[in-house]
Amino acid sequence: MKLRKFILLTATLLLATACSGKPANNQQASTTAKNKTAKKALVVFFSHAGENYSVGNIATGNTKVVANYISDIIGADQFEITTNKYDGMDYKSLCDLAKKEQEQGLMPDFKGEVYQPATKKKVSLTESIHQYDVIFIGGPVWWGTYPQVMFSFFKKHAGQFKDKTIIPFTTHEGSGLGSCVSDVKKAFPDCKVTGEFCIAGHDVRKGRATVEKWLNGLTY
Ligand SMILES: Cc1cc2nc3c(=O)[nH]c(=O)nc-3n(C[C@H](O)[C@H](O)[C@H](O)COP(=O)(O)O)c2cc1C
Repeated sequence: MKLRKFILLTATLLLATACSGKPANNQQASTTAKNKTAKKALVVFFSHAGENYSVGNIATGNTKVVANYISDIIGADQFEITTNKYDGMDYKSLCDLAKKEQEQGLMPDFKGEVYQPATKKKVSLTESIHQYDVIFIGGPVWWGTYPQVMFSFFKKHAGQFKDKTIIPFTTHEGSGLGSCVSDVKKAFPDCKVTGEFCIAGHDVRKGRATVEKWLNGLTY
């Protein structure tokens, strides 16, 4: 009799757990965006650490904060476009240089590799690009669009992105997306460009929920 009661109780408990919809390991539902899609995503971004408008001298650039949220929330890998060209520059000098680069259509050199947080491995973009269905492209707005160094990246790699979905985002201090979306469409004519997002640079450090809301609303 006791055994029958025990089996009945265990079965009832199992059924209740299965129907509750709660993950067995009690993980929070903040992974909604991650669970929503099995598609593999890469975040390509540029971000400038150092002296910047409104936020002072920052060790981690505003766009990088957003890129890290994206990786954390949906499990995306990262490609950070880097250059040492702007290291240690004060804000005013950087503005002057960025304007000159844009006006003259200069294409600064860059470096970067794909970083896969899950394995902590770095791999080349050329070798790994086939894995990704969705590419987030993000950067600061510099004089109304992305910094020229990002266009150097676009020029070098656009041909490898054929048929991918691109989701552009920016951090800014008033220009929103500027002309970034149309510039990305021009640079990647063989891609679907959709789902764009922008956030003020001075808001990113308390903006994780805003980023998560955007990600949850995306269909790709
Ligand atoms: C050279 C330069 C030019 C900028 N031009 C603009 C601009 O045209 N419009 C705007 O809204 N913000 C502009 N900003 C502000 C940045 O877009 C903003 O601070 C951004 O969050 C910086 O991101 P990061 O820290 O990832 O580089 C500019 C900043 C710099 C350094």
